[in-house]
Amino acid sequence: MNEAARAAADAGATTPALRFAHVSKSFGGVRALQDVSLEVLPGEVHCLAGENGSGKSTLIKIITGVYTPDPGAEMDYFGNHVDGVTPVTARARGISVIWQDLALFPQMTVAENIAFGDILGARPRLVRRRAMREKATRVLARLGVTLDLDAQLSTLSIAERQIVAICRTLVGDARLIFMDEPTASLTHSETESLLAIVAKLSADGVSVVFVSHRLAEVLKISSRVTVLRDGRKVGVYDTADMTQSRLTELMTGRTFDSAIVSRDRSDARPVLEVAGLARHGEYEDIDLTIHAGEVVGLTGLIGAGRTELGLSLFGMTRPDRGTIRLNGQATAFRSNRDAIRAGIAYVSEDRLTLGLVQPQPIADNIVLPVLGRIVNGLDLISTRKKADLVNHWIRELTVKIGRPEDAVSTLSGGNQQRIVLGKWLATEPKLLILDSPTVGVDVGARAGLFAIVRKLAEEGLAILLISDEVPEVYFNADRIIHMAGGRFIATYTPREMTLGDVEKAVYA
Ligand SMILES: Nc1ncnc2c1ncn2[C@@H]1O[C@H](COP(=O)(O)OP(=O)(O)OP(=O)(O)O)[C@@H](O)[C@H]1O
Ligand SMILES: [Mg+2]
Repeated sequence: MNEAARAAADAGATTPALRFAHVSKSFGGVRALQDVSLEVLPGEVHCLAGENGSGKSTLIKIITGVYTPDPGAEMDYFGNHVDGVTPVTARARGISVIWQDLALFPQMTVAENIAFGDILGARPRLVRRRAMREKATRVLARLGVTLDLDAQLSTLSIAERQIVAICRTLVGDARLIFMDEPTASLTHSETESLLAIVAKLSADGVSVVFVSHRLAEVLKISSRVTVLRDGRKVGVYDTADMTQSRLTELMTGRTFDSAIVSRDRSDARPVLEVAGLARHGEYEDIDLTIHAGEVVGLTGLIGAGRTELGLSLFGMTRPDRGTIRLNGQATAFRSNRDAIRAGIAYVSEDRLTLGLVQPQPIADNIVLPVLGRIVNGLDLISTRKKADLVNHWIRELTVKIGRPEDAVSTLSGGNQQRIVLGKWLATEPKLLILDSPTVGVDVGARAGLFAIVRKLAEEGLAILLISDEVPEVYFNADRIIHMAGGRFIATYTPREMTLGDVEKAVYA
């Protein structure tokens, strides 16, 4: 909240930008929301927090007219009662959303994407073009950002595209902007820039409702947070006197202690031994040993080469130089199929495209990489073997599902990530590579996922955990490697350093 907004609020004189009350929504038998309310003040940054499936996106869709609420909802924009909301009426009243896919036009320019909707009409093309550029320039200046107006959108980074999407809402005179997990696919420094833009919008009197599973961000950017749990509102809280652990408890009803698990595993048998590995333009001089039962965290900023290295270890790309040994055996993978056969599993951040086949049943997704093991003598898939395998991993990973026949797309983010893990563990790997495994995964599910990772390590699996988030590697790895510019530049040992020290070194 900016100062003016706070002063007005203190005087009790502010008309809320948004006030929705008694909002309920059922999808068939599923009660996604039950009697929820949300109030947002002018210029306020307000967070919506809750676990995967708690109803955050559904609430946003109701407020912006995508879904119709069940009868009984009270809806109010800027002090005016509204009867029914459609996306068009919401926008006309200054309420905008930035969806995760951003809904931009990749083939059009920055200026066209920002101002296109506003400039439609019968005016001559040249005038239209000039007006469009002027509008785009004005909103970019308002955010203090420079972007090439003539660049084709498809050449921009995700972070830059997000700025274009924000500018487009401002051209449409947005006074309240919803952002549903805008930072999920951003790097640390891109996130910082986005948070700065959100702060600027707020100072400018624009309200922002922000969703993120990274609680540090929530506390940093917002003045109040509304917490949802299982489709109900737990409460609304000032963030000034809120901590991450208290917020976690409100969201989940449980507490999670983050204790250091780091141990010295250097006496154990080496599973992965990499020496002098290099790939032109990606990484150089990589020496890395991971022992049985050891979790090695790999962190660093964007462009550090972490994912590139991970992909080479998994046989997706070929190194130019150096050696990779697995359990003492030299390897030379021609493809990821060779890597899988040799005992490497790779869980990627991008479960939506690489990890899972969304419309397919949960069971089929789990058995996908091991089809060869469950065919019977007639080359048909053995129903019994398949069911045994599926049930084993669903139990082992405590996945919450309806039936194994249900489509993966019906699961919440955290449970989808467990299915990805199950699919790879079914291959019985020796080395597990986890690349940003918790993007979009809520705090409770993260804890569940890392408890599993820990257990796998105890059973002797070697694990490489790649993550942008320093606390994630700090609390879950035995040692942390800091990568920058394609090279390993330092190793940190959590049991010998504080979290703050490691963060300072990595984010500096
Ligand atoms: N179109 C739909 N049809 C059926 N069920 C739905 C639909 N949309 C949402 N749900 C259900 O409603 C509940 C709330 O989902 P919602 O997407 O709002 O959660 P969320 O808080 O945004 O979760 P996440 O953090 O994973 O994005 C879930 O149980 C979900 O499965
Ligand atoms: Mg959501």
